[in-house]
Amino acid sequence: MSTADATVRAILGDRRSMSPREHGTAYAPANVALVKYWGKRDETLNLPRTASLSVSLGGLGTYTGIRPIDGDTDRVTLNDEPVAPESSFGRRLSTFLDLFRRPDGPRFDIRTRNTIPTAAGLASSASGYAALVMALDQLYAWKLTPREQSVLARLGSGSASRSVYSGFVLWRLGSQPDGLDSYAEPLPMTWPDLRVGVITISSTDKGLGSRPAMRRTMETSALYSTWPEIVGRDLRQIQSALQHNDFQTLGIVAERNAMAMHATMLGAWPPILYWQPGTVDALHRLWRLRDDGLAVYATMDAGPNIKVLFQAADTAALSAAFPDLQIIAPFGE
Ligand code: PMV
Repeated sequence: MSTADATVRAILGDRRSMSPREHGTAYAPANVALVKYWGKRDETLNLPRTASLSVSLGGLGTYTGIRPIDGDTDRVTLNDEPVAPESSFGRRLSTFLDLFRRPDGPRFDIRTRNTIPTAAGLASSASGYAALVMALDQLYAWKLTPREQSVLARLGSGSASRSVYSGFVLWRLGSQPDGLDSYAEPLPMTWPDLRVGVITISSTDKGLGSRPAMRRTMETSALYSTWPEIVGRDLRQIQSALQHNDFQTLGIVAERNAMAMHATMLGAWPPILYWQPGTVDALHRLWRLRDDGLAVYATMDAGPNIKVLFQAADTAALSAAFPDLQIIAPFGE
């Protein structure tokens, strides 16, 4: 029995023998971490080395519908295109679904649609696994709590644990080896004026996935030893900024945290650098705008694209500087 299996058993208990209904559907938003998750203490369960904090992206996310079908393979459609069962995406999905069904249980037809423009280069695995767990919950009428959904989504992708909620979300580190206390929770603050802009530098595949990149950083980068301490400080400061509606501190901490994460990767061997020339150019332009008095801050994940944080009042200035900026209002317009 794999340990992911043990997690599912612990959460579903007797509900594991329930039969599916006809159909389940769900939506989950994508999220951007303001204090990043980088490094696992358990690779099978996607247990993080530190806590992390994100903001969900409202209407940008994943819709998923699931129904049982006859036959012996799952049928997956992504954005109206069939996914080959033997592709790495198809196999990863079926392996995840196997956690939730008996060996003689049904295969599924899964239709999943991202409202995230594919070109935006925003990770869709977070919203994808969160929506899938929520759709399964509907299909089987398990009536999972959000906390249980968060733990189960985490088994698909770590950052998916945060995508079962909207707004600001804290993923707790937890300390139990079984990971049942490592789940995300929504934070009670809202920030209607907050805007997240996406500067797309490249929409092609980033090459090295976050899983091997995290592993290499932990195994070879001397800088990684400072990461837990950095995250501890940044989590304290950003939660205080949220409480006091202090946008400047929020932005500074988020940008500094993202840069520190990328610094740990540069210290790895072989070095990991997701940045492209266009990334560096856009960062310099953004920093010039900031020197000129605009409150704009950058964050970046495991890819070359930049997400900028700013406030609604500065929308026109940002759009003028970055005409292709895709703007998201996480708390609605
Ligand atoms: O959930 P994963 O395995 O795709 O990892 C996500 C890692 C980052 O996006 C770089 C940071 C984060 O906290 O989302």
